[in-house]
Amino acid sequence: MSHQVALSFEDGVTRFITCEPDQTVADASYRQRINIPLDCRDGACGTCKALCESGDFDGGTYIDDALTDDEAARGYVLPCSMTPRSDLVLRIATTSEVAKTQAGTFEATITGLDRLSPTTVALTIETPQRDDLAFLPGQYVNITVPGTDETRSYSFSNGPDEKSLTFLMKLAPGGVMSDYLTGRAGVGDQLTFTGPHGSFFLRETDRPVLLLAGGTGLAPILSILRTMVATGSRRPVHLIYGASTDDDVVELGTIAELAARLPQLTWDYVVSDPATAAPNKGYVMSLIGDEHLYDGDVAVYLCGPPPMVEAVRGHFTERGIEPTGVYYEKFAVAAVPDTAVPDTADTDGADTDTTGDDGMAGRVGRDGRVGGDGREPTEPEATMDSAVLALEPEPLLEVAALGAGEGRRIAGQDTFPGTTAEPVGAHVAAARPAAAEADTMRAIARQPIWPGGEGRPLDRDPGEELLPAGAARAVAGQEMHAADEAMRPLSAGPETTTTATTGPPAATSRPVADAPEASNASATTPTPATTPATATTPATTRAGAAASETADGYEIGEEHPSVHESDAVFDARQALELGVVELTIGRLTSQQLSGFRLLAEATVPYVDGDRFVDAAAYTETNAAFHDYLFTLTGNDHLLQAYRALGVKGHMDEVLRDATWCDPRCTQDHLDIVAAFEAGDRQTARALIAEHGARSKATTRRAMKDAERATRPAFVSPGRFDGKVVVVTGSAQGIGERAARRIGAEGGQVVLADRSDLVTGVADDVVAAGGRAHAVLADLETFEGAQSVVAAALERFGRIDVLINNVGGAMWFKPYTEFTAEQIQAEINRSLMTTLWSCRAVLPDMVRQGGGTVVNVSSVARRGIHRIPYSAAKGGINAITESLALEYADAGIRVVATAPGGTEAPPRRIPRGGDTPATEQEQAWFQAHIDQTVDSSLLKRYGTLDEQAAVIAFLASDEAAYVTGTVVPVAGGDQG
Ligand code: FES
Repeated sequence: MSHQVALSFEDGVTRFITCEPDQTVADASYRQRINIPLDCRDGACGTCKALCESGDFDGGTYIDDALTDDEAARGYVLPCSMTPRSDLVLRIATTSEVAKTQAGTFEATITGLDRLSPTTVALTIETPQRDDLAFLPGQYVNITVPGTDETRSYSFSNGPDEKSLTFLMKLAPGGVMSDYLTGRAGVGDQLTFTGPHGSFFLRETDRPVLLLAGGTGLAPILSILRTMVATGSRRPVHLIYGASTDDDVVELGTIAELAARLPQLTWDYVVSDPATAAPNKGYVMSLIGDEHLYDGDVAVYLCGPPPMVEAVRGHFTERGIEPTGVYYEKFAVAAVPDTAVPDTADTDGADTDTTGDDGMAGRVGRDGRVGGDGREPTEPEATMDSAVLALEPEPLLEVAALGAGEGRRIAGQDTFPGTTAEPVGAHVAAARPAAAEADTMRAIARQPIWPGGEGRPLDRDPGEELLPAGAARAVAGQEMHAADEAMRPLSAGPETTTTATTGPPAATSRPVADAPEASNASATTPTPATTPATATTPATTRAGAAASETADGYEIGEEHPSVHESDAVFDARQALELGVVELTIGRLTSQQLSGFRLLAEATVPYVDGDRFVDAAAYTETNAAFHDYLFTLTGNDHLLQAYRALGVKGHMDEVLRDATWCDPRCTQDHLDIVAAFEAGDRQTARALIAEHGARSKATTRRAMKDAERATRPAFVSPGRFDGKVVVVTGSAQGIGERAARRIGAEGGQVVLADRSDLVTGVADDVVAAGGRAHAVLADLETFEGAQSVVAAALERFGRIDVLINNVGGAMWFKPYTEFTAEQIQAEINRSLMTTLWSCRAVLPDMVRQGGGTVVNVSSVARRGIHRIPYSAAKGGINAITESLALEYADAGIRVVATAPGGTEAPPRRIPRGGDTPATEQEQAWFQAHIDQTVDSSLLKRYGTLDEQAAVIAFLASDEAAYVTGTVVPVAGGDQG
């Protein structure tokens, strides 16, 4: 039984972790992204020393130098050695702030102020801390406006290895930075900046590059080009630079110089102003030719204001262009505090101030009109122009800049409080606002990440999975979903659609679909059933789509095609990690390296040779390992960009049942740490690339194995040709297997379930050459059952067979322990669903002069510790026999199977009810399993294929002379 450990930091912040009895507190802490002080990890150095304020524990082994007897007597402990025997409260000898990731703070001197055009300035600065500043081409910093507390964001336009730091700044009227530059700035001035920030940077691949820059969004693009020159890149690259007016066009000479040094660089520019003298008039999209897109095998880097970025993305969508990678950086207009409005603002244009200053990085004017795409401005252009004209003769400057803030929010949600890792370059780091650190991440790339659940195991029925499910879904006590639905395979064919058919989910919010003795059932997430119809995953869905948006509306994102999503995800991870290597290698402290090694070692126990010992645990520890370097950069954007790729969610899904793992995967982790310890950049880079390839191989094979495992073992081709078969509870388990088999035998299958997982099953049936139609419905209601029948009739015109598979026990305990509500819930789940469905389908079967109903009962009709369920299944048998009597004359057969215990993959959706938590509850649960096995003559569980075989037989015309019969499929248990 795990224990809760409260980690109380010196600044009053307390974090909670879950620690297993055989796990050290340090190990649990790191895996849950709380990086307490650590060095030797072996009870030898005393670095991790903490005070235990309450709780019982085993102190482990350590030497006296690390912890003296006197200290131990006073309650001091070593988290790297101690294991809990109860819940604990530990006082950690550091502040949570110190342990946080932070951006570095740098002092700098202005060495150049160059007016490039009436609207644009180049700022050059130098910092004595240049060696401490590592950044990636495309990243930005937040510059504090001298004499104020305000910061504005600007992208580097220089390359990462150049001594001087340069920025492009768009002139705009009003605002703090503008005020400074206009009135006070001069060469030799001191300023400070923090960073680097952002996840918009050049990824390392050989793929051709298309660069699209709007306005001063040219700055990061210049940084990228300078990097390509410096590294001798041979990648084909084309740049399209757009501006609103001729005055906004800058750095053409620089681009020409770069092109002279980068022979494969081609470029062009365009101005949207109708009065332009530029050779091209219009938007950047107008200059994108097929020759720049390489049939989609191109990496697109796109930087500009939102209208431009969205216009380009829309252009790609309209033209059906799916570049292998789209990396974009845009910003939204941020509110400018009134205090930012200078007294000298235009008297006729208060708007001036809201457009002019605190916009976005010097790279782009935040008014959205400077972006070079020539799209409509978001603010009165005349105001801006007149202001600029007024400034023009002045030697003083106005600068468009990003709204203040460090970009701590993602998709409008506060971000994760980070980890407690000490930042790279901590000696130059500035403290983050305490409020920001207290925030909790709730969303990534617009996907909610729900607050911590208990990660409790799922109910297990004798007929269902023998392995606990869902254990890998929690990260740091937070339930983590897969990145998004886009990660699902695209196999939607013309035959698959999803129809949500019923009213709101039952008040219990428990899953409806379920089945008897096997994990047949389904749906958990109450599907909003009010939606009349939704298509299956659209073909345009993109995998690995990830975007982060700051509090200022500043958004960075990346997208990759959904095809081959396994590879795309790992390619994207590798590209990010190679960037992170540049930021971290040779800069980690010994404590950070110790944490890194701990996390690498944590992955080892879950792989034995080339076999996963525990794929879910591997996924969990692997995610913590890969997260770690990102946390050490102190750059939330990078961490969130990585998390938003959904690598862990993808692995959760794919590795669920995997057994094969590339045998070097865990060794890679250890070797990567060794390379970091040695400061061996080349080896680290090579290992990360190799590890990416091995990760892809592992997941590819798992996907293939999973696909193979879902295929029916037995098929009688053509047996259901021309038949329309409705299978309820077909998202997983017995219902799913029966539906797949009938689909493979020529049936037109209507898959009904409350879980939208059923759409994936329908997709698979279609992909295998069958016909299928997915229907979302709450079958605990008559309306839900009617909606399934209606959807089937609408789709196929008739129903020949109804297979009632929904049901499944939720609680396992003596009858006297059941509450009235639980009894009612069991009956609703396992009896009423069949009653409703039979009532809904029989009128049409009578009308058409025949049909077959196959009910899935259970041998649990005679069993212990689930009496309401047993009663429900007894009722199923009665329904079967009586309906057979009543409707024989109508040509309708009514039959049933009674499955026994059945092995199945871990449930993807919990059934509801309570997980046995106490020893007593677990004993009750185990007793019903033992009784099930004991009652079987074969003393084993059955398989899904064995259950589906009998269902399919009874449903087919081969069983034309069988009705009113319940067939036990339970290894000899008659039920
Ligand atoms: S004694 Fe715990 S890290 Fe060294």
